[in-house]
Amino acid sequence: MGNDLIQIGSGVPPGAAAVVAPRAPEFSPAIAANGKSFYIETFGCQMNVHDSEKLAGVLMARGYRPVETHDDADIILYNTCSIREKAAQKVFSRLGAFRKSRRSPPSGVAAQKIIGVLGCVAQQEGEKFFERAPQVSLVCGSASYAKLPELLDQLESGNRRVKGLDLDTEDCFETEFTRRDNRFRAYLTIIEGCDQRCAFCVVPMTRGPERSRSGAKIVADCRRLVDQGFTEIQILGQIVNAWQDPSPAHWSFAELLGRVAEVPGVCRVRFTTSHPRYFTPDIVAAIDSHPALCDQIHLPVQAGSTPVLARMLRGYTREEYLEKIHFIRQSRRPISLSTDIIVGFCGETEQDFEQTLSLLAEVEYDQVFSFKFSTRPNTSAQNFADNVDEEEKGRRLTVLQEAQRQIQWRRNQALVGETFEVLVEGYQPRLLQAVGRTTSNRVVNFPGAPEDIGRYMQVKVTSAGPNSLVGERIAI
Ligand code: SAH
Ligand code: F3S
Repeated sequence: MGNDLIQIGSGVPPGAAAVVAPRAPEFSPAIAANGKSFYIETFGCQMNVHDSEKLAGVLMARGYRPVETHDDADIILYNTCSIREKAAQKVFSRLGAFRKSRRSPPSGVAAQKIIGVLGCVAQQEGEKFFERAPQVSLVCGSASYAKLPELLDQLESGNRRVKGLDLDTEDCFETEFTRRDNRFRAYLTIIEGCDQRCAFCVVPMTRGPERSRSGAKIVADCRRLVDQGFTEIQILGQIVNAWQDPSPAHWSFAELLGRVAEVPGVCRVRFTTSHPRYFTPDIVAAIDSHPALCDQIHLPVQAGSTPVLARMLRGYTREEYLEKIHFIRQSRRPISLSTDIIVGFCGETEQDFEQTLSLLAEVEYDQVFSFKFSTRPNTSAQNFADNVDEEEKGRRLTVLQEAQRQIQWRRNQALVGETFEVLVEGYQPRLLQAVGRTTSNRVVNFPGAPEDIGRYMQVKVTSAGPNSLVGERIAI
């Protein structure tokens, strides 16, 4: 996510990639190399991270080899994010730096590089990109990724500029070749796009309309992932609980969660991002009855004031949101809650902001991702008066984050002495510490070894900070 992403919590968005996890094994050596290499830089959310995994898989299946730096690559792809203004600016600064380095290419090889811009900024800027950054020869939005092989063929046959910008595609880009970055935790897209059109959000314009994959195909994918050694599945969608089974089986979203959780070998299932409007009690019932479904729900509220929510076109009031929290809290399991909040949305008064603070105090989230509002092109909020100045947005963000920090600290302190199962996701050699995650998505550091990565272990919490826990392993 962008520079202005401020996370109070583990330091990664719910379910995002771990710090030191190992890469998945290299792609099958049976594929003939074509002598060319690629490098993908990814900006943004875990949906973008997973799109890059799919893109890498498609390229590798065509014989391209992944490399670790821009300099070594024949094809450089930027998978971009435009959710906030700063995120969108990043890609232009990358391209600017590349232009400078092209003035003095070390060997002349640089001049032959193919530079492609993918994802939200590509979709948003469209063909204008070629004028703004003449060094770019491929522009492709996420709704058109299925066309990437075709676009590469066009480039290889000498076309200077190729584009894939259709939004009205039926495709939900899925590929058997996906090269997952983590060996134990697999992202799996079940729905692409979003039809909600929240007033601040660029996603419906950059990712296109909602398209769901069939439940049976999703479950089949999960079985394959287990065969490949993955034990945690993270189900993804911009509006994941709006998933609708396009097959005659017509499973509900809650039913799908149960089916995925029941796949033999699946130990953990997370899903993100849920929209409050479609968040129904049967989802909590599914969590209650399937131990593999994690004790974690990410339910973006965006604001605590009903008038602001109405201007945001979120489709619920403060009270309706709190009803959802109420039935989540009635679960038999200690479900941890996280949310997204925007401060300084158009017309947000001090009283509105205080409503957000009071919602924070009432819900007591375990993690909050908070952002200053920034106007995005082609959104309805673009036509509203953005009357909260930057300084005031900054102040509100600081106040909110400090309030949340205190809440998290208190909630984490209450866990000292308790024992949790953690999936070890990484190892910090300098500290000789393993880094694990509880089912509630809390990060726990404890003395361990590199071989612990990928294992499930019991860890007793010995101390707690606002963003993570410290523990010791318990033998059982
Ligand atoms: N699909 C998810 C979120 C998409 S973007 C959902 O339905 O909630 C992730 C978060 O970025 C949003 O939840 C929102 O809090 C924030 N965000 C989106 N547009 C923004 C904007 N224009 N300015 C600031 N924050 C924004
Ligand atoms: Fe964006 Fe709202 Fe959809 S935040 S992704 S338009 S639910």
